[in-house]
Amino acid sequence: MTDPTIRLADYTRPAWEVDTVHLTFRLSPDATEVRARIRFKPGRGGDLWLDGQALDLLEAAIDGKPVAPAVGKQGLSVPAADLPKDGFEWTCTTRIDPEGNTSLEGLYLSQGMYCTQCEAEGFRRITYFPDRPDVMAIYTVRIESDLPVLLSNGNRIGSGPGWAEWHDPWPKPAYLFALVAGDLKSVTDSFTTRSGRKVDLAIWVRDGDQDRCAYAMDSLKRSMRWDEEVYGREYDLDLFQIVAVDDFNAGAMENKGLNIFNSKYVLASPETATDGDFEGIESVIAHEYFHNWTGNRITCRDWFQLSLKEGLTVFRDQCFTADMRSAPVKRIQDVQGLRAAQFREDAGPLAHPVRPEEYVEINNFYTATVYEKGAEVIRMLREIVGAEAYETALNLYFERHDGQACTIEDWLQVFEDATGRDLSQFKLWYRQAGTPQLDVEEQFDGTVHRLTFRQNVPATPGQPNKQPMPIPVRWGALDASGHEFANGLHIADAAVTTLDIPCSARPVMSLLRGFSAPVHLKQAEQVGDRAHRLAHDTDPFNRWDAGRALAMEALLDGGDTQDWCDGVGRVLEDEALDPAFRAMVLSVPGEGEIAQATALAGRVVDPDVIHARRKQVRQNLAHHLSDRLAPLRDAQQIDGPYSPDGSAPGKRALANGLLGLIALQSDGLNLAQAAFDRADNMTDSLAALTILTAHGAGKNALAHFHHRWSGVSLVIDKWFGVQARFGSIADIEALLDHTEFTWRTPNRFRALIASFAFGNPTEFHRKDGAGYQLLADWLLRMDALNPMVAARTSTAFDSWRTVTEDRQALIATQLERIASAPTLSKDTSEMIGRLRA
Ligand code: PHE
Ligand code: ZN
Repeated sequence: MTDPTIRLADYTRPAWEVDTVHLTFRLSPDATEVRARIRFKPGRGGDLWLDGQALDLLEAAIDGKPVAPAVGKQGLSVPAADLPKDGFEWTCTTRIDPEGNTSLEGLYLSQGMYCTQCEAEGFRRITYFPDRPDVMAIYTVRIESDLPVLLSNGNRIGSGPGWAEWHDPWPKPAYLFALVAGDLKSVTDSFTTRSGRKVDLAIWVRDGDQDRCAYAMDSLKRSMRWDEEVYGREYDLDLFQIVAVDDFNAGAMENKGLNIFNSKYVLASPETATDGDFEGIESVIAHEYFHNWTGNRITCRDWFQLSLKEGLTVFRDQCFTADMRSAPVKRIQDVQGLRAAQFREDAGPLAHPVRPEEYVEINNFYTATVYEKGAEVIRMLREIVGAEAYETALNLYFERHDGQACTIEDWLQVFEDATGRDLSQFKLWYRQAGTPQLDVEEQFDGTVHRLTFRQNVPATPGQPNKQPMPIPVRWGALDASGHEFANGLHIADAAVTTLDIPCSARPVMSLLRGFSAPVHLKQAEQVGDRAHRLAHDTDPFNRWDAGRALAMEALLDGGDTQDWCDGVGRVLEDEALDPAFRAMVLSVPGEGEIAQATALAGRVVDPDVIHARRKQVRQNLAHHLSDRLAPLRDAQQIDGPYSPDGSAPGKRALANGLLGLIALQSDGLNLAQAAFDRADNMTDSLAALTILTAHGAGKNALAHFHHRWSGVSLVIDKWFGVQARFGSIADIEALLDHTEFTWRTPNRFRALIASFAFGNPTEFHRKDGAGYQLLADWLLRMDALNPMVAARTSTAFDSWRTVTEDRQALIATQLERIASAPTLSKDTSEMIGRLRA
């Protein structure tokens, strides 16, 4: 039986809409009873269809009269003829099994705590309901349980021993419903909105974790302030709560007034969390909070519109972090992430548009394309219309669509109305998959420098032919001394466009500044141009990217690294530059990015060759910098206590980047060991541990680390992760047998299996196929338990057609093996089908 394909073109309005929902939960681990009372009003009209999965229907009635609907595996229906035309009250009782719910969708148990995950389609595992985002209703929830803490969306309207009642005054789609019950402790604070309303804030964690919530709380308050100041959006309830859970399929979830977080994005102390973890918390807290307006108050009409809320909210959280920290460094990090994940996705069998037009399982479309490319599309839109018009358009968006379930068309219409522009061509960014390639030719004739842009959007699955898109190219022109004498914005909106810059000498062109569009730029620069830009570009992003391009040239062709080493050396010693920026310049493109560039150049990917080349290039740099490394590292010493903010993380990043190069020199590992022994924060400790492990010298440090952090699961995840990235298959197998490899916990599964498949290319791509087999074994195992996590992890195979033929054959065998498994979830079977197509 094949699962049906859902198509955007088939959208129809709901037959019946919902005014109010009253839910009563009688919690019990394997037999929770959910009583629902739902007030329906006419929509498009027709039969009543209610989605429902893994539910035991105990009773049902319409306007108090028992009914016997036709019940199937996906839901139930009642014929229109049996329904009062003007609306009716539906009541039913369902029984569900939170303890046996291993998918972590719907209501489940995590370490004795009940919690829910309803996006995208988890609510149908709680009760029968039109589980689609365009059905918005007002919820009142009663929870009955002996557990001390009983939470749901909105405000608490009553409680007593063994029960609590909650009411959320804002209409919401079912995917934003949440319920939590457990023996939890809270850390509380408050926030006064700019109109003077006091909002209570609470973060709920397990006892003992209270002292690791301060950064999350502070991030929340800063997010609330930022959304008021930058977007003019105030919070709209008297209470905002966050709950941390250890078992969670994703990062976090924006349920109205009751966000539920993977504990990884809440809990942090200097001893247990790295600078990167702190930054992750800040951005995920912001992201979920920002969803209150972009996602909750204005939601999606259907799941094809997912990027309406996700692209916009990612864009907002990126801007927030840029304001909190260094904007150029944030931009570099985001582009690195985009290239590593989204460009990779866009180049293979899983490529899909920012707004997909069909899916089998929507869980498979929470992707880098919908999220990160979606954010890039909004960044381009702002670039094209300008910051002021962007603000006007957003105000209009909130004014016009507050309380509605909207589409990408609604979103673009707002920009058209606010600016008078025709955005029909721009809409192609939502419709066409694939990363455009932009080739640039330059010609100087003595008075004018002419640039000719040629764009090409590659064919992707289901989209053989593409149309030209508007590509905003921010540019600057530098003279021989590095002085910038002109700059501007060129929109390359046809297959071929030209840009003329009047000047008296051939300039060095800095193109696509700030990465103004998510494209592959191919600029045939003259010898020395990149080095010139690495030394002088006034755009920090492009300055960094010039270094990266120089390194990539050497990585691809095994060529000379002299220019790159010289340039990096000068940047490193430029005290005027932010250490965080210098750390970025120091880093060499990862093996995945090199593999992509190799494939893009039309060559076969051999992960062993890439690994060796990258090692050689880093060696060259270490050799080139030789005795300058240690003093540079010493210069990054930090005085005073640990802080995850300000300049300290950048200094640590630079110091640890330098340590990585020092480790390549004789005696360097002793320094790394000393750094590990001396480390008084997780950033330095993990950096040293990683370096030692990468050199096969981590045995003692790993043992020490494991002993020191026994029982702190987020840190033990790191311990697994480091070994997964640098260990041999034999090492991985030993870890799979480790008592602490509690693979049912998604974080732990990801720490070992996903870190191995995505972060250890040489072992994953071993020529005997052992790496592929290992992944396939675990995908099958996980699929029976948690399809969403299995399907997500299967994307590790997404570049399989780029590797050597012998490896392709081995992967094909594993994909076929998975495809022919006797039972396979809808999630994984869709993914494997797309991978093999
Ligand atoms: N909507 C969540 C976010 O982006 C992501 C999510 C999706 C979480 C599905 C859980 C399940 O913030
Ligand atoms: Zn989101």
